[in-house]
Amino acid sequence: MIVVAGGSGLLGRLVVSDLAARGERVRVLVRDAGRARSVLGDDVEVVAGDVRSRDGLDELVDGARAVVSAVHGFLGGRGAGPVQVDERGNASLVDAATAAGADVVLVSVLGASPDSPLELFRAKAHAEQHLRRSATPWTIVRPPAYLETWLAILTKTAGTSGRPLIFGRGDSPIRFVSAGDVASVVSRAATDATLRGQVLEVAGEPLTMTDLARALQDARGWHGPPRHLPRTVLRTLAIAARPICPAFARQNHTALAMDTGQLTIDIQAANTLGLPARTLSDVIARFVAS
Ligand SMILES: NC(=O)c1ccc[n+]([C@@H]2O[C@H](COP(=O)([O-])OP(=O)(O)OC[C@H]3O[C@@H](n4cnc5c(N)ncnc54)[C@H](OP(=O)(O)O)[C@@H]3O)[C@@H](O)[C@H]2O)c1
Repeated sequence: MIVVAGGSGLLGRLVVSDLAARGERVRVLVRDAGRARSVLGDDVEVVAGDVRSRDGLDELVDGARAVVSAVHGFLGGRGAGPVQVDERGNASLVDAATAAGADVVLVSVLGASPDSPLELFRAKAHAEQHLRRSATPWTIVRPPAYLETWLAILTKTAGTSGRPLIFGRGDSPIRFVSAGDVASVVSRAATDATLRGQVLEVAGEPLTMTDLARALQDARGWHGPPRHLPRTVLRTLAIAARPICPAFARQNHTALAMDTGQLTIDIQAANTLGLPARTLSDVIARFVAS
């Protein structure tokens, strides 16, 4: 049996369905079990748990031969941000998996580093370190931004205007990948013990946010140039919102880092597994159809 923490999320759901297609028994661990059941149906075992608390985690991963972490606290406020979820929560999950004798597949992020200016990237790097120091066999997967996540954001910001809002200038190349391709890597890592001790980087395709917004507009039949939120506004919100709404500040800080090329220029990555890369048009066609 394989435990997928975060199995009701965008990536997690795809991992669960890939694993089920491989004939694996899956247990999904999330905070909101009701929502997970409505997303996943009745054929998947769902248990309610919170990686932020070690209490009860041992029981929830008991019997697993592998534990996948597809959780994050990027959108969470105080008490549920990257430090609590991605760093400490993952550490608790790793400790519980170690006690259960299960391997761990950690979904990190491309560019994770203890020196990153971004809280999420530091928290992921600390989780990676904790996992590497543990006694449990591990695989780390480092993906860049998911196309589906950003298509959803651009769709939401377009509202009824048909003109998505781009955070910044939108002209820096950013690495994007389909969450479906990442799920293929994660589910393979969960079932293939020869991948232990490896960091699997998923390079993705460099695209600008403007390319993505225009491709979405073409597919939807939307007209008019995308709108822009200036970098100065992102910079101001990243600082001013920090004491009141840390999650909103974090989103602005990350958007600014993406727009200024901070996240991509220096990151060297290889498609370690030679992915079956889904093209942008495939992903957009599926996204629009759903
Ligand atoms: N989206 C991207 O562009 C991107 C890029 C690179 C890497 N990643 C990584 O890929 C993974 C999946 O991301 P995603 O965008 O697919 O996530 P998502 O759709 O936001 O889903 C997050 C999942 O984690 C669960 N979760 C959150 N906090 C939890 C907690 N404290 N305890 C237990 N479960 C918790 C959520 O369910 P509940 O709310 O019910 O708990 C949900 O199932 C994450 O590790 C993320 O850092 C994402």
